[in-house]
Amino acid sequence: MIKLVSGVLVLAAFVGGVAAWGNLGHQTVGYVAQQFLAPKAAAFVNSSLGSTYSYSLGVAATWADTVKYETGYTWSAPLHFVDANDSPLTGSCSVQETRDCGDNDCILAAIANYTTRVVNTGLSATQRQEALKFLDHFHGDISQPLHVEAYEVGGNDINAICGGSSTNLHAAWDTGIVTTNVNANHGGAATTYANDLVARIKTGIYESQTSSWLACDNTTEPVYNKRSVEDDVNGLLVSKATTITPLECPLVWAREANAFDCTVVFNYTTGQDLCAGSYYNAAVPVIDLQLARSGYRLAAWLNVLFDGSPNLP
Ligand SMILES: *[C@@H]1O[C@H](CO)[C@@H](O)[C@H](O)[C@H]1NC(C)=O
Ligand SMILES: *[C@@H]1O[C@H](CO)[C@@H](O)[C@H](O)[C@H]1NC(C)=O
Ligand SMILES: *[C@@H]1O[C@H](CO)[C@@H](O)[C@H](O)[C@H]1NC(C)=O
Ligand SMILES: *[C@@H]1O[C@H](CO)[C@@H](O)[C@H](O)[C@H]1NC(C)=O
Ligand SMILES: [Zn+2]
Repeated sequence: MIKLVSGVLVLAAFVGGVAAWGNLGHQTVGYVAQQFLAPKAAAFVNSSLGSTYSYSLGVAATWADTVKYETGYTWSAPLHFVDANDSPLTGSCSVQETRDCGDNDCILAAIANYTTRVVNTGLSATQRQEALKFLDHFHGDISQPLHVEAYEVGGNDINAICGGSSTNLHAAWDTGIVTTNVNANHGGAATTYANDLVARIKTGIYESQTSSWLACDNTTEPVYNKRSVEDDVNGLLVSKATTITPLECPLVWAREANAFDCTVVFNYTTGQDLCAGSYYNAAVPVIDLQLARSGYRLAAWLNVLFDGSPNLP
């Protein structure tokens, strides 16, 4: 009995260790993005994903998680996160490209790589589809606070309670809190949740923030000399780099998500249920915001790539 229970816990910790937002979170990001695509980006998404993915970034968003344990794709597992070696429990949060991604084997470099590949007409349709699916997925991952945190393996090694059940802190953020929220407030479906977030973006509480979401300058730490999604993508394409060029936007997004590790994420007491009460109430607005803005940013990113500008309000 004891053996069985500990086996289950080990398995849960392992699975959570490399997952990001669960399927629900990733699909939501894709469905949000889908609603903001400009004409050429929409046409590419449609033809590239095809009927296999119901022509939808929402459906394709989870592919990267399904392949990462498969032979031939294990190299992609480290690309789902960046291990920020900061100190969230002492209130010191930060992401630094050289310190945390010096080998270019992390999500920051991966977004740059797949940005150049998705528009590289020298690659096959399959390779470009793969680049699109990685971008779709990594735009979600980079907004999950525990995917931009090295402490305790991004919270995987911290036991937690969600809805009365044992889990770990990372998994509570990937799925537990998201699922509880979507079941309680958004019809239990990624499509409904995405529609609710899109309404907030178009006419609700996020409307006044959206232009700043694309500015990539909300940080106190020094960044590269590029600004905005448009500058970042265009700069990368013009440089035609053969090595990975550091981008500013993904770094800013990672820092934004990482900053929550110093506020809400580690702010609980032992045994507290993270999927109810005060912790849950503090986490839900963060998760809503992170999923909404990563979907919006994914659309802007693809719109700059295919239509030449973010094409967004
Ligand atoms: C996507 O492509 C399919 C198949 O070519 C086509 O039937 C459909 O109208 C397209 N949808 C959009 C929104 O362009
Ligand atoms: C870019 O992506 C391709 C395809 O997944 C991969 O083979 C290559 O190693 C990546 N390049 C870098 C520098 O990460
Ligand atoms: C910029 O960062 C500050 C401090 O983290 C935060 O309060 C503010 O909401 C952020 N602005 C945007 C547009 O994200
Ligand atoms: C941290 O938790 C305490 C106790 O629930 C709460 O009063 C406080 O507002 C929380 N801080 C943040 C940043 O969520
Ligand atoms: Zn992932």
